[in-house]
Amino acid sequence: MKLCFATNNQNKLREIQALLGDRFELVTLADIGCTEDIPEPYDTIQENAKAKSSYVSEKYGIDCFADDSGLVVPSLNGEPGVHSAYYAGPQRSHDDNIALLLKNLSGVEDRNAYFLTVISLSLGNTYYAFEGRAHGKIIDEKRGSGGFGYDPAFVPDGQDRTFAEMTLAEKSQISHRSIAFAALIDFLDHH
Ligand code: IMP
Repeated sequence: MKLCFATNNQNKLREIQALLGDRFELVTLADIGCTEDIPEPYDTIQENAKAKSSYVSEKYGIDCFADDSGLVVPSLNGEPGVHSAYYAGPQRSHDDNIALLLKNLSGVEDRNAYFLTVISLSLGNTYYAFEGRAHGKIIDEKRGSGGFGYDPAFVPDGQDRTFAEMTLAEKSQISHRSIAFAALIDFLDHH
């Protein structure tokens, strides 16, 4: 069965295809001819994930799933949240985003934060949602050179290294994205 993964990231696609086996043939946005920017107009990660999957399934008539992620810091009223990719501006710079986050948290005692991934699956006429969270703390400096985004400033609960100080395999065992995709794959395996 053909299923669109609303991404153009071939690495992500290959990774998920390998986990799904050959019961589902995953295709990318480019494969279905969707080259336009998909609107993500909402204030929550949940609504934007659903907006992406519904846009593709309704406009292109194909079952589809879309993921959306971000870093949520409760003491900053949930920021950067849905704005994670462009927190410090449209240049979408990971360095600028971390610098702004550390600045906004300077002097703030509550450093709790979590990464959230939401996957919206549109199958037939029904929408399903899958979530993964990785809870931890924002430290007051950057450590490590792996990963991406806010990884150098995020120490997951129960660990003493940042996500950026871990190997990809180590991060993948506990990451929000892995938890959400495991839930999606478990659902598709039993569907
Ligand atoms: P996306 O929805 O996966 O593109 O994620 C949006 C933004 O959230 C990214 O540009 C990063 O700023 C942040 N983000 C999402 N996942 C991670 C992660 O695993 N580590 C660090 N930052 C992340």
